[in-house]
Amino acid sequence: MSTGTGAPFVLVNMAMTADGKIATANRAVTTFGSASDQEHLHALRATCDAIVCGARTVEETDATLGNGPDRYRRARLRRGLSGSPLRVVVSGTGSISPSAAIWGDRASPVVVLTGAQVDPAKLARLRALADHVWSSPGDEVDFAAAFGWLRSRFGVGRLVCEGGGGLNEALFRAGVVDEVHLTLCPFVFGGRSAPTIAEGIGFPRLADAARFSLVSSKRRGDEMFLVYRAARTAARPGLTS
Ligand SMILES: NC(=O)c1ccc[n+]([C@@H]2O[C@H](COP(=O)([O-])OP(=O)(O)OC[C@H]3O[C@@H](n4cnc5c(N)ncnc54)[C@H](OP(=O)(O)O)[C@@H]3O)[C@@H](O)[C@H]2O)c1
Repeated sequence: MSTGTGAPFVLVNMAMTADGKIATANRAVTTFGSASDQEHLHALRATCDAIVCGARTVEETDATLGNGPDRYRRARLRRGLSGSPLRVVVSGTGSISPSAAIWGDRASPVVVLTGAQVDPAKLARLRALADHVWSSPGDEVDFAAAFGWLRSRFGVGRLVCEGGGGLNEALFRAGVVDEVHLTLCPFVFGGRSAPTIAEGIGFPRLADAARFSLVSSKRRGDEMFLVYRAARTAARPGLTS
């Protein structure tokens, strides 16, 4: 884990179709990247102290947010990281299901980030399920404060957020994203209600939009692996390969 004191370096890693969707409209298809994309996901996780996911993604994809094949755990240890990343679930209202798969996997601690107005019964339930619960000052999770807490409490210097669109939009709006990894996959899902990379309320004006520079693009088979860096991040140490 990092010994620094600044804000963690924040990555967003997502796979999307050629029409910008991250799942089908009926949400039946949630994983559609190739084996190369899975390798990319696990390789990125293996550089990070923590993985962050929204409540709906954790529930709908049965995510346990682990290392994948053992070579990635070994890569972590060679880098001086813990054997498994800290797992962080964002659930502002504490609605995350108690039967989500993540609760049955104790490979590493699970942290839940909530808002201030969580129903006391839900909060008690979360405290029983999770290893740590952090409550944000407002209704929405304040990500600058939450990630600062992850840094000071667990030494998280680098974290990867893996969606979904609701969480991503809040992160972009909070201005905490340093790097975006997008795998562009050769499908079109269509569907007005199919989720996209960033949902939520969005930015009303071009001048307000989150802005990035393309720093890397690689083709593997029919997929493009794109890396964007936030302008404000130019001076921060990334690990783009
Ligand atoms: N293709 C890909 O790479 C990829 C990756 C991930 C997910 N997905 C897909 O994306 C879909 C899920 O996306 P989604 O947007 O519906 O859900 P999501 O972002 O995974 O989770 C949304 C939930 O996270 C919590 N949350 C998010 N932002 C918050 C904030 N600022 N403050 C407090 N709580 C916050 C809320 O939980 P509470 O309701 O508890 O308040 C909210 O309901 C699924 O279909 C999944 O398969 C695709």
